[in-house]
Amino acid sequence: MLEKKKILLGITGGISAYKCAHLVRLLVKEGAEVKVIVTAAATTFVSPQTLSVLSRNEVVSDFFDSNHNWQSHVQLAEWADLMLIAPLTANTLAKMAVGQCDNILMATYLSARTKIIIAPAMDLDMYRHPTVIKNLAIIQSFGNLVIPAEFGELASGLVGEGRMAEPETIVDYVKNYFRQSLPLIGIKALVNAGPTYEAIDPVRFIGNRSSGKMGLAIAEALAGMGAEVSLVLGPSSISVSNSSILVYHVESSDDMYAATLKNYVDMDIVVCAAAVADYKPLKAATEKIKKLEKEFDLHLVKTKDILEELGKRKKKQILVGFALETQHLEKNALVKLQKKNLDIVVANSATEAGSGFGGDTNKITILDKHNKKQEFELKSKEEVALDIVNYIIAYKKQNSTS
Ligand code: CTP
Repeated sequence: MLEKKKILLGITGGISAYKCAHLVRLLVKEGAEVKVIVTAAATTFVSPQTLSVLSRNEVVSDFFDSNHNWQSHVQLAEWADLMLIAPLTANTLAKMAVGQCDNILMATYLSARTKIIIAPAMDLDMYRHPTVIKNLAIIQSFGNLVIPAEFGELASGLVGEGRMAEPETIVDYVKNYFRQSLPLIGIKALVNAGPTYEAIDPVRFIGNRSSGKMGLAIAEALAGMGAEVSLVLGPSSISVSNSSILVYHVESSDDMYAATLKNYVDMDIVVCAAAVADYKPLKAATEKIKKLEKEFDLHLVKTKDILEELGKRKKKQILVGFALETQHLEKNALVKLQKKNLDIVVANSATEAGSGFGGDTNKITILDKHNKKQEFELKSKEEVALDIVNYIIAYKKQNSTS
């Protein structure tokens, strides 16, 4: 969830600063890049060396580093996607309220254009003091977000409100903050992916070489943008590591048809990336077929076209299909766009090097029903998925305002 997010953690001098070692560890584990600034008082409660090892970055404590080089607070502030100050003492809170700048943490805070989240920690009576309450209100009026202190046993031995929120709570708050700023929050998306297996008898089937990688990458990219994602996945060896994606495992085109249609009505975005078999045996034998005859004819019938059916039933959904072609890529893709009532078609070549089934890369051209077209370079399937999802987001934006 915090993959590649740049988080600047400011630590001030409260006893709970020792919990920041765990906080840094949790943030890094979530995939965040973390840089730490400490005040002089903070270093009496937590060692900069520990924080440096855990954050994998040098800890900043002064305007000059150990080699007497100037440390730019402006660059630090610009680097961050988010600044977190935890624990926040009454002293630093007061400085934030009036803009007093007497250390690099305050200089960075005053230069930061990113959102600032603070987790105050102080003794019970301090936390209740009218100036603290007033200063918290003042800094919130500047747009800073406050994770309230928690109730519990305090370092003084008193019991009450004032404990810094637990590192897990802070990480959840940060995750939520990033989630809310994602473009597909509140959006439901359905993806189908992988091959289908059409049974000939209990042990044999007709299948294809689709790996399901492209569809899975799209499902993960949609989830990464905040969408609530369901994935209907044909028989494939890939595993879905993102636990927020709801996976329906299916085998045949009929199963995939049923699962995709069942989930369709509520959806806002639907991407059909599955390589659905076009034909299936008229009737699967119930027992294993013996090799008695010299020749064996298999009677095949067309499968249901899932995407075409979705196109017929389309209401609010943005419907995205693929077109895998060996010739006349754009022309054939546009025919599918119209015939299946799609909003967007992703065309890829089955014969071009690095494109199509099986591999880890793809080269696509996206066409939409408003005659727009965008060609992309050969990229990894993860990057291609991001291009597709960004295209869908831009399409959605244009079509909800026009
Ligand atoms: N598709 C589908 N159900 C099918 C066949 C295809 O939902 N029975 C979907 C695929 O998931 C893809 C799109 O239709 O999004 C186009 O699939 P493709 O194999 O390129 O084309 P077809 O429609 O099968 O036509 P043809 O094989 O003749 O090119």
